[in-house]
Formats: sequence, structure tokens, C-alpha cells
Amino acid sequence: MRKKTAPGRKMRKPSKKPLTSSHGGKAPKSSRASVSRAGKPTLWDQASRWYDSLVGMSGSDYHRTILMPGVLRMLELKAGRCVLDLACGQGVLSRYLLQKKLKPEGLDSSEQLLRMARSRSEKSIPYHLGNAGDTAILEGKKFDGVACILAVQNMENIESVLKNVARWLKPSGKFVMVLTHPCFRIPRQSNWGWDEDKKTGYRRIDRYANEMEIPILTPPFVDKDNFTMTYHRPLQSYFSALLKAGLCVDSMEEWVSDKESEPGKRSRGENRARKEIPLFMAIRAVQSASKNKE
Ligand SMILES: C[S@@+](CC[C@H](N)C(=O)[O-])C[C@H]1O[C@@H](n2cnc3c(N)ncnc32)[C@H](O)[C@@H]1O
Repeated sequence: MRKKTAPGRKMRKPSKKPLTSSHGGKAPKSSRASVSRAGKPTLWDQASRWYDSLVGMSGSDYHRTILMPGVLRMLELKAGRCVLDLACGQGVLSRYLLQKKLKPEGLDSSEQLLRMARSRSEKSIPYHLGNAGDTAILEGKKFDGVACILAVQNMENIESVLKNVARWLKPSGKFVMVLTHPCFRIPRQSNWGWDEDKKTGYRRIDRYANEMEIPILTPPFVDKDNFTMTYHRPLQSYFSALLKAGLCVDSMEEWVSDKESEPGKRSRGENRARKEIPLFMAIRAVQSASKNKE
């Protein structure tokens, strides 16, 4: 998926100025919220039709071949166990988990994406509308596993989200989150290059260590007000937020793309580079009961 981005900004000192898209336009404050407030559409509500064209009923190629089978394997759950699909979008993972005999529930802050999720799923899957960082959300609910695919980077305050994950998990319950690899896939701050001497593709990284807010324009690209937000964080931010929430990392995997270049002069070097530099990172953490007594 090729994304158009607007210049990144550091997260620690959010600018008071309106965001400027890569087309030089101003993003109105009203459309910046990533979470629904008093019925106002979220950034993902306005991006829902575009996102649905990429993911649809059963997921993108990556969802089907890498992400969902990987998450299922890492959750290590027996049939009949309850799983929360955190930031479920239009319910692609929830439907997959139901097929695999698990009992999924979905949570998302986009009303539009949830409408699609409900209309395409079995009635047995409950979908909840709300902000994953809200302290009262899904009060009293407990799950054997929580899975979050390609969404942690769209959440502004992961500390409160991860605290909720710890609250929702049963003792020893597992949390699996998959994100585009934060070391190698930083929108606007990383890209593929080609080394003619070595005849190999390489990944150039311009910025990594500081947290950044990066608006990503969504179609129609001519409309500068249509964007979603990516929050880049270095690995240490994820690990320290997990630890702070009482979630203990017990497994980490890095998954490469399964795409191949069209045959040509560079295809061998490009394919080799793609197999060396991971596209996704999956982290599994377990609820550490001692830190999270009720
Ligand atoms: C890239 S989409 C991924 C959706 C889905 N997991 C998938 O793989 O198709 C990111 C999702 O995160 C949701 N999201 C962003 N911030 C959220 C928050 N604070 N609480 C709940 N959902 C949120 C958006 O509404 C959107 O559905």
C-alpha cells in the first residue's frame, strides 16, 4: 500500500498551528480527532470508504497471508476462548477468529467502520463503539486474548490503551499487537534505495529515535482535509509502555513481505532486500497478574 504523507512532527510538543498537508493546505481542528466525541466523525470515519477499498470483507493480501495467521498462532488459544479484536475496523480479524472457532468481540472508535463490521459479520460477534484509551470502556469485561492489528500506531495515547489491555486480560491472558516495523517503516522518514555497486536494495532511515506525529493523506488526495494520523514511536517507547501497564513481553517476531518484484535487472537484489528487512513486527505480552490485581 503506498501512502501519501505530510511532514512529520515531534509528538512531545504538539504544535498549536493547524497541520499542513503535503499539498500545503490546513487541516481543520474539527477533523483531527482520532476518537469519536459527541457524535463527531473520527479521522477514520472520513477515511472509511478508502480503507474499506484496501481491506474489504476478508482483508488485504498481507492480512490473509501474514497478519491474521501470525496473530492466531501467537495467541495460542484453544477453541471457544474469548478474544478482543482491538481497533477492529470493519471486522476482518474478528470474522477470521470466528472461523477458527474462537469467540471474538470488536472495539473501535469509528462508527462508519463498525457499521461495515456489523453488516458483514455473524450476529454472534458483538462490536463496541468507543475509545480504546477510555478508562471506563468495556468495564467488567475479561478476555483470554487481545489482538491489535495495524492500529497501535494510529492511537495517540498508548499508555492508557495498554493499561486497559491489562485490565481486560484474564490472568496469563495474551496480548498480541502487530505493527508495521517501527525501525524500518516510518512514513516519510524511511524509503527504499538501490545500491548500484552491491546490486542490492536497501532501506534508508532518516529519523527514528524521536516520537513523531505524521499525518497521512487519504484519497481523494486532492482534498487536503482527508488524512489519518500515524504516531511513530521507537521500540523503547513500546516496551516501556507495556511494562508500565503490567504487561510482560514474552515473544517478539519480525515478519518479512511475501511480495516479489517483477522480473528485471533489479528484481534479484530487490527480492533479497525484502527478505532481509522486515515489514511487520509482532509483540506478544502476557498479563502479569501480580501487577494487576483487581
Ligand atoms: C489501520 S486501521 C486497522 C483496522 C483493523 N485492525 C484492520 O487490520 O483492518 C486503524 C483502526 O484503528 C482505529 N482506532 C484509532 N484510534 C483508536 C482508538 N483510540 N480507539 C479505538 N479505535 C481506534 C481506527 O478507527 C481504525 O479502525
